Amino acid sequence: MDINPLNLIASSVFTILFLSSALLPTNSQQFSRKLSKEEMGIKRETLSHLHFYFHDIGSGSNPTAVHVAQAATTNSSSSLFGAASVIDDRLTEGPQISSKTVGRAQGMYIFADSTQVALSVLYNFVFTEGKFNGSVLSILGRNPMSSAVRELVIVGGSGVFRFARGYAEARTISMNMQTGDAMVEYNLYVFHH
Ligand SMILES: *[C@@H]1O[C@H](CO)[C@@H](O)[C@H](O)[C@H]1NC(C)=O
Ligand SMILES: *[C@@H]1O[C@H](CO)[C@@H](O)[C@H](O)[C@H]1NC(C)=O
Repeated sequence: MDINPLNLIASSVFTILFLSSALLPTNSQQFSRKLSKEEMGIKRETLSHLHFYFHDIGSGSNPTAVHVAQAATTNSSSSLFGAASVIDDRLTEGPQISSKTVGRAQGMYIFADSTQVALSVLYNFVFTEGKFNGSVLSILGRNPMSSAVRELVIVGGSGVFRFARGYAEARTISMNMQTGDAMVEYNLYVFHH
């Protein structure tokens, strides 16, 4: 009998493949299918306006915005090009820091413009109030900080914000030039179901 080791390997590989394919479910697996809105329980589209204040605090012993990285050339850049911060900022109902928390902005911003101070942002706004409690809106966009109003894109969401889309307007209300701490007013206009 031929006991060439290569044959043994080939036959055991064949056996393993045969056995594992025999273990797979035999019914045909469907990659995609049409689904009705009713089946998903999707109701009529709602347009919501959310209004709150965003507190970006990098100073003090309990910062919610931390500078995590920068390029070797960032210090010599007037636009801080190459710097990156991670945030877990409070969102409040009113402008005072003592105002009721309605959620948090988690994510990051990077200084991504080499000629002016303009951030590229990536935020998940996670809400903690009322029917929005636990639901998230994901936001991307360009934030040129010297503009009075910056428009960001609501790219989607989870929870009550499944299938969400819309836009956000950001207005800086106050900024400490020494620390960079800022308070920003947000107005979100979002379609969801
Ligand atoms: C940039 O400036 C900061 C603060 O002055 C300093 O801590 C850091 O080492 C500098 N980085 C480089 C790459 O020069
Ligand atoms: C939000 O949901 C969390 C977790 O389910 C719960 O502990 C909390 O009390 C809720 N907050 C409000 C304001 O409903």
